[in-house]
Amino acid sequence: MLYDTVIRNGVIATATDVFKADLAITGETIAAIGATLPPGRREIDATNRLVLPGGVDVHCHIEQLSGGGLMNADSFESATRSAAFGGTTSVISFAAQHRGARLSTVVEDYAALARRGAVIDYGFHLMVANPDQQTVEHDLPALIEAGHRSVKVFMTYDAVQVSDQQLLDVMLAARGAGALVCVHAENHGVLKWMSERLVARGYVLPKFHAVSHPRAAEVEAFHRLIAFSELLDQPIMIFHVSTAEGAAVIRDARGRGVKIFAETCPHYLLMTAQDLDRPGLEGAKWICSPPQRTAADQEALWRALALGDLQVLSSDHAPYRFDSSGKLSAGDNPTFKQMANGMPGLELRQPLLFDAMVSQGRMGLSKFVELTATAPARIYDLPGKGSLAIGADADVAIWNPERRVTLANDLHDNAGYNPFEGRTVTGWPETVLRRGEVIVAEGVINAAPGSGRLLLRPAGEATRPTGRLSAEFDPARNFGADLY
Ligand code: URP
Ligand code: ZN
Ligand code: ZN
Ligand code: ZN
Repeated sequence: MLYDTVIRNGVIATATDVFKADLAITGETIAAIGATLPPGRREIDATNRLVLPGGVDVHCHIEQLSGGGLMNADSFESATRSAAFGGTTSVISFAAQHRGARLSTVVEDYAALARRGAVIDYGFHLMVANPDQQTVEHDLPALIEAGHRSVKVFMTYDAVQVSDQQLLDVMLAARGAGALVCVHAENHGVLKWMSERLVARGYVLPKFHAVSHPRAAEVEAFHRLIAFSELLDQPIMIFHVSTAEGAAVIRDARGRGVKIFAETCPHYLLMTAQDLDRPGLEGAKWICSPPQRTAADQEALWRALALGDLQVLSSDHAPYRFDSSGKLSAGDNPTFKQMANGMPGLELRQPLLFDAMVSQGRMGLSKFVELTATAPARIYDLPGKGSLAIGADADVAIWNPERRVTLANDLHDNAGYNPFEGRTVTGWPETVLRRGEVIVAEGVINAAPGSGRLLLRPAGEATRPTGRLSAEFDPARNFGADLY
C-alpha cells in the first residue's frame, strides 16, 4: 500500500511525547506513525526538523465589526493565510452579534464570509450582545445544538457589554444547551470612570490607555464572573488574563472546584505597558484590552501556565491599520479612548511562544504543543485537531528549531504593521499541511480561498456542568418555585 505522503526522519512532538518517527498520511488524515514506514507518493524529508500538530488559535477576531462599529483589517482570507504562515491550521473566531441584530442571521453572515475566504479550518464563538428573548430562548440554544459550542460575552465596551442579569441569562441558556461561556471580564464602571477622568485632564496619549484599565477592574470582574459560574454551575473560559492577581483569583477558584478555564496571550507574556509609551500617536499600535502590564505579571502568568492554572495560549488577533480606517479613525488629535483596541497576532503566536518556551528553555516542547494546540482543541471540542494521532486530521507543521528570524514588517495579515518587529526568534514553521495538503512551503502559500472548512463541535467535557448545585440554583430546593 502506498501512502499519499510520508514525512520522514523527523522528531514528532505531542503534548505528552517527543520521539523520532515517520508520519504517514492517507487522504486528509494521519494513517501511521512509526519507524521506517513504507514509501509515500510524496516524501517530505524532515531530518533535523520537528513535526508538530498544526496550531489551534481559539481567540481571534476576523472580518469583525468592533464595538465602535469599525471593520477590522482582515478578511477571512488574509487572516487565515497569516495564521497558516505561522503554523496555525485551525481557528475559532467570532460570529459577533450587535444590538438589534438577530444571532442566527449573524452566524449565517459570518459563515458566508468564511466559506468564501478561509484557507484553514474554522469554528465560531457565538458572541451575544443583544440577549433578548429571541436570542436567549431560541437562537442561542439552536445554534449551540447545531455545533457552535462556545458563547462569548463582554462585561465592558459600551456597544456590546451585557449587564449582570443578561450575563446570567446567557449562562443559563448555555448551560441548558451545552456550551462553554467565554468572557471578556473587566469592570465597565471602573474603566469608564478612569478614562473619563484621564481625558478630562488632557491625558489622552496612547500610554494612558494602560492607566485607564486598572488591574483592580480585571480582578473585580473575575470575582463576579466566577461567582456567577458558581451560582449556576456553568463552566466558563476567562479570556486574556493579564495580571498576577487575576491569575491568583483563577487558581483560588479552581482550587475550590469551580469549573473554569483561562487563557493568556503572547503580548501579556512578552510586552509591558511601556510598549504604549512612544512618540506621538505611535503607541496606538500597541493598544489592546486589557493592556499589557508589568514584568512581574509576565512572570506570574508564565508560572500560572506551568502550573495549569491557565490552560490556553491564544492570540486575540484583532487587527486595525494605523490609519484613518483603523487606529486613527477618530480624526485629528484622537484620545486613547477613541483608538480601536487590538493587535495582529495570528501569525506570530506560535513562533514567539516557541522561541520563549522551547528555544529559551522556559517550558519545553510538549508544553508548547499542549498550550498552543492540544489543550485548545480539547477544551473547545475540535475533534481531530491539535494532536498527531492515527485518524486525526493531517494538520501538521514542520519546524526548523534552529532557524533564527528577525521579525520584520512582513506579516501576511492586513494590519500593515508588526507589533513585534525587530525581535529575533529561534525556531520557525517552514512547511505546513492542512488535512494532508501542503499549504505553506518555502515561504509560499498554496491554498484556495474557501478551502478551509467549518468546524462544528460536539458538546464535550468542558461544556458540562459539575452537577454540584448551589442552594439557590438547585431546582429541587426551590420551594417548588420553577425558576429555571
Ligand atoms: O483589544 C482587543 N483585544 N480587542 C479585541 C476585542 C477584545 O477585547 O477581545
Ligand atoms: Zn428554531
Ligand atoms: Zn476581549
Ligand atoms: Zn478578543
